Amino acid sequence: MYRHGKGALSKHHVKARCKIYPGSTNKERFPVPDENVPWREKLRKYEPLEYTAPEVEQNPPWADPDFTHAENKDKMPKWNCLDGKINRESYDGHYDLDPESGVPRNPRGRTGMAGRGLLGRWGPNHAADPIVTRWKRDNCGKKVQKDSKPLAQFIAVQRRGNNEWALPGGMVDAGEVISAALKREFGEEALNSLETSPEEKDEIEKHMNELFQRGTQIYRGYVDDPRNTDNAWMETTAILFRDDDGDSVAKFKLHAGDDAVGVQWLDLDSSLQLYANHVDFLKKTAEILGASW
Ligand code: BGC
Repeated sequence: MYRHGKGALSKHHVKARCKIYPGSTNKERFPVPDENVPWREKLRKYEPLEYTAPEVEQNPPWADPDFTHAENKDKMPKWNCLDGKINRESYDGHYDLDPESGVPRNPRGRTGMAGRGLLGRWGPNHAADPIVTRWKRDNCGKKVQKDSKPLAQFIAVQRRGNNEWALPGGMVDAGEVISAALKREFGEEALNSLETSPEEKDEIEKHMNELFQRGTQIYRGYVDDPRNTDNAWMETTAILFRDDDGDSVAKFKLHAGDDAVGVQWLDLDSSLQLYANHVDFLKKTAEILGASW
C-alpha cells in the first residue's frame, strides 16, 4: 500500500459550480451562492438544470443506466458499497440519496446541475493520478535552486479539448486496482503522445514499471471537477513517484507531439494553473519533497 503524506486539502467545490458545463455551449448551472452549497442550508427556490450528455445517455459500457427512469427503477444498485466490479463507495464516507429519485447526492453540496452531465456513474466516479517528479538540474548535474530550495519538476500532459495542463491520470476501470490504473493511464496519456523511437519508449516503460513500485499517497478523495453534478462526482487517488537520483525516467526528454496535445516536465511552482484540483496535489508534493513552491 502507499504511504500517506501529511496535510489536508481544501474542502469546497468551486469548479463544480462553473457557469457553463464543460463540453457544452449552453448548459448553464443554476447559480448557487457559497452559503447555499451545503444541502442542510435550505434554499427556497432551487431548480438545477437536469443534464446528462448524449454520449452518456447512449449507454456505453462505462456508464450506468438512467436509474431515474421508471423502467430502470428495479435495476437500482446498492449504493455506498462494492457493486460487483463497480466501486460505488466514496472516499468521503457515506453519501446520502436523493429522497425523491433515490440516486446519490453530492456529499459536498449543490452544484446547480442534476443528472450525470459527462460522468458515466451515478455517485462517485473514480480516477487515479500519477505524480512523477525529478529534481531540475543544470548542465553539470547540480540541482537548480529557487528561493534557497531545490526546484522539482513533474510530468504534465495537456488535456484534449480545453488544452489545460494536468497530471497524466484517468478513470479507474470497473474491477481494476489503482496501481494498474496508474500505470495504464500514464502509458496512455504521457507515453503515447511522445515523439520518441519505439526503443526509447520501451526503455521509459521499463523504468516506469520499476518506479511505480514505490509511491507515496498524496491525496485520496473528492475532486472539485467541473464535470461534477448534484448526483455524480469525481474522486481520485494521487500517488507520488519520485526519481530523486535522476537515473530513471528523469533522464528522458519529453517533447510534445505535433497535435495540440503535449507532454512535458513542468516546474513545481505556486503560479501553476492546472486542471481540477491538481495544483493542490502539487503543493503538497513540494512540501513532501522539501522543494521550492
Ligand atoms: C482525470 C484526472 C482527474 C480526475 C478528477 C479524470 O478524468 O483524468 O486527472 O484527477 O478526472 O478531476
